[in-house]
Amino acid sequence: MAKVAFIGLGVMGFPMAGHLKTKGGHDVTVYNRTAAKAAAWAEKFAGKAAPTPAQAADGCDFVFVCVGNDDDLRQVTTGEDGVLKTMKPGSVLIDNTTASAEVARELYAAARAKGVDFIDAPVSGGQAGAENGVLTVMCGGDEAVFEKARPVIDAYARMVGLMGPAGSGQLTKMMNQICIAGIVQGLAEAVHFGKRAGLDIEKVVDVISKGAAGSWQMENRHKTMNQGKYDFGFAVDWMRKDLGIVLAEAQRNGARLPLTALVDQFYGDVQALGGNRWDTSSLLARLEK
Ligand SMILES: NC(=O)c1ccc[n+]([C@@H]2O[C@H](COP(=O)([O-])OP(=O)(O)OC[C@H]3O[C@@H](n4cnc5c(N)ncnc54)[C@H](OP(=O)(O)O)[C@@H]3O)[C@@H](O)[C@H]2O)c1
Repeated sequence: MAKVAFIGLGVMGFPMAGHLKTKGGHDVTVYNRTAAKAAAWAEKFAGKAAPTPAQAADGCDFVFVCVGNDDDLRQVTTGEDGVLKTMKPGSVLIDNTTASAEVARELYAAARAKGVDFIDAPVSGGQAGAENGVLTVMCGGDEAVFEKARPVIDAYARMVGLMGPAGSGQLTKMMNQICIAGIVQGLAEAVHFGKRAGLDIEKVVDVISKGAAGSWQMENRHKTMNQGKYDFGFAVDWMRKDLGIVLAEAQRNGARLPLTALVDQFYGDVQALGGNRWDTSSLLARLEK
């Protein structure tokens, strides 16, 4: 059993922190900006809540963070009441936020300056993956630190991998999002075409999902797309944040991402339709408007 803090109890963080307590059996203290959520978590999981990130992290062996973007992450780590203020030498800071590789390297250096270790560890698997404790976790950092952190991370994960030095977890998540952008646009166009052609979408997917066109998106989203329902997970606003990170990194490393840039603009169209909180399969709504 380790002493653990979890900062950020959103859609993802709330259940992840829960698994650290129930499945991992750790002594967990949480912090959330909106204190009511932290109180609700502490009641549900018989854990503790602290009023600041620094107080939550005080004396902990592992500190997890899952907030929104780079700036949010800086606030709760290197900010005034951030966790690095109190984390002890030899402890490990694990960041589950989807953020830039740049901020990961920056936090790695800030942590090391205090004798603290850092792993960037963005996740994939969505709300359902977090609730069921079966996330995929893509890590960047030092191998010995990763080996120390892995058994703790296992509480909310099905797959945990070390991809390389600091920032490599975030770069891996970027590849993940590049794949998703193209796959969802292809699926949206196929469903759109099928409807225009008068095909029975369910029947078609039953057949083609077993062949080379099959994908997680097809299996899990074709039904709701066909019904014009877009309330099933990862929101368009988050996807645009992620694609913004991807495109900025591509500017730096010279990668050419024409399709990703185009799909990012398509998600901008979805936002203009009022779809900020719709799930990513809503690219179809844009074609059908
Ligand atoms: N949702 C998904 O399916 C999914 C899947 C994979 C990865 N992710 C990534 O995981 C991260 C969290 O996603 P989520 O869906 O859990 O988001 P969310 O439900 O919006 O939760 C965000 C959390 O961060 C906290 N927060 C934001 N800015 C903060 C700040 N400046 N200071 C302190 N706390 C702050 C929020 O506090 P309040 O409660 O006070 O607002 C909340 O607890 C994001 O980077 C997202 O891209 C999400």
